[in-house]
This record gives sequence, C-alpha cells and structure tokens, in this order.
Amino acid sequence: MTELEAIRERHSVRVFKDLPFDRATVSALRKAAEKCNKEGGMRFQLIVNEPEAFQADRQSYGSFQNCRNYIALVAPRGKDEQVGYYGEKFVLAAQTLGVNSCWVALTYKKGKTDVRVGAGEKLYMVIALGYGENHGHARKSKAPADVSDITDDAPQWYRDGIEAALLAPTAVNQQKFRFERDGDAVTAKAGFGVYAKVDLGIVKYHFEVGAGKENFRWA
Ligand SMILES: Cc1cc2nc3c(=O)[nH]c(=O)nc-3n(C[C@H](O)[C@H](O)[C@H](O)COP(=O)(O)O)c2cc1C
Repeated sequence: MTELEAIRERHSVRVFKDLPFDRATVSALRKAAEKCNKEGGMRFQLIVNEPEAFQADRQSYGSFQNCRNYIALVAPRGKDEQVGYYGEKFVLAAQTLGVNSCWVALTYKKGKTDVRVGAGEKLYMVIALGYGENHGHARKSKAPADVSDITDDAPQWYRDGIEAALLAPTAVNQQKFRFERDGDAVTAKAGFGVYAKVDLGIVKYHFEVGAGKENFRWA
C-alpha cells in the first residue's frame, strides 16, 4: 500500500479487536517511530499491551474499546507542528501495516501512561493503535474552496494536495487550516482552534504526499 492509498483508507478507529500485535508488526511499528524520531528530533515512544490508558471506566473514555497499544507523542516543547507532521507520518506507516489508529488529545489517562518525558519535553498526546473491529467511516468534510484559494485553472498537483489535506484527521474534525499558492510556492496556515498547530503539521504531511514534493515548495 502506498502512502496515498493509506491516506484514502484511513479513518479514526476507536473500537479494536481483542488481538495483540504479532512480533513482526511491533518491530515494524518501532522502526517507523524511530524514523520519525531521527528525522524530526521527536521522542515518540511505542507502548504495547498497556490497557490502563484507555480503560473504559468513565463515560468520557467510553468511546474506546480494547485499546492496549498506543504511541506517546513526546517531543521538546514548542514543536506542535512537527508533532503533527511526524505523528501523521507514523499513522500512515501504521495504516500500510494494516494497523488502525486514532489521534487522542483528551480521552486517555495521562497519569497511567508509562512514558518517559525529559526536561524541556512534553507529552503532547497519544495515538491509539490496534486492529479495528472495522476500518472506520468517511466523515463530513469541507470543500477545497473552503480551505484554499483554489481556482478552476489551478494545477493538478495543487488539487491533489488539497484533496489529501481534506482527508487528514483534525481535532474534532475542525479542518481549520488554509492553503494559498503563488506559482509553485505554497503556504499553509493554522486557523484558531484547539490543537490547530498540531492539525497544521498533519495536513501539511498529507498535502506533501498528495501534491508530490517535487511539484512545489513551501513558501
Ligand atoms: C490533534 C487531534 C486530537 C484528537 N483528539 C481526539 C480525542 O481526544 N478523542 C477522540 O475520540 N478523537 C480525537 N481525535 C480524532 C478526531 O476526532 C478525528 O480525526 C476527526 O473527527 C476526523 O475523523 P477521521 O480521523 O476519521 O478522518 C483527534 C484528532 C486530532 C488530529
């Protein structure tokens, strides 16, 4: 599966099968996390077989079932956009391995997570991982013209980039971002909203995959 296919197939999944990852999958997920850490200066940590963080013992946690695996998005402070960018790179790598996911900023128990957070670092959020009971569902989306300066004569790569950005997960599906283009120079800006900077990194990663890095540059 290519990253673009992974973008098209990915939806948030919150209900998982009671099925542990096999060793090959754990090893591939660890490798993907290490790649993000090396390239992006992140300190993402893969946690497997830890049921506490998603215990459904309160109503607010109730939407998650059988979640025992997650990646803790630890990074230096002030790196919200990079956390989004590399977190989504990891999500798409997981999707290509047949592993479903959901970004989770709120509905997990921070206190119980077995995660190392050093001085000057922060646990931004986690991404739940597992084999979904199903692969999730398409949800409502804004249109290209709502989030960009797209026109009828815009190049195909720009259309493809915006389409991929609109398939990206954003907090509460807010899709508060905006793309603008001047020739082959593209800007992407975060709107106001919760976790808007993390969202921005996520949608920029999708845009790069959709548009093709060789077709444009970030202004
Ligand atoms: C930064 C961020 C934080 C999120 N936090 C939560 C959360 O706390 N609980 C939850 O159930 N879903 C959470 N989500 C998942 C979004 O609700 C979901 O991505 C959005 O509704 C779009 O649906 P999709 O991922 O299926 O495309 C979060 C997503 C992002 C990007």
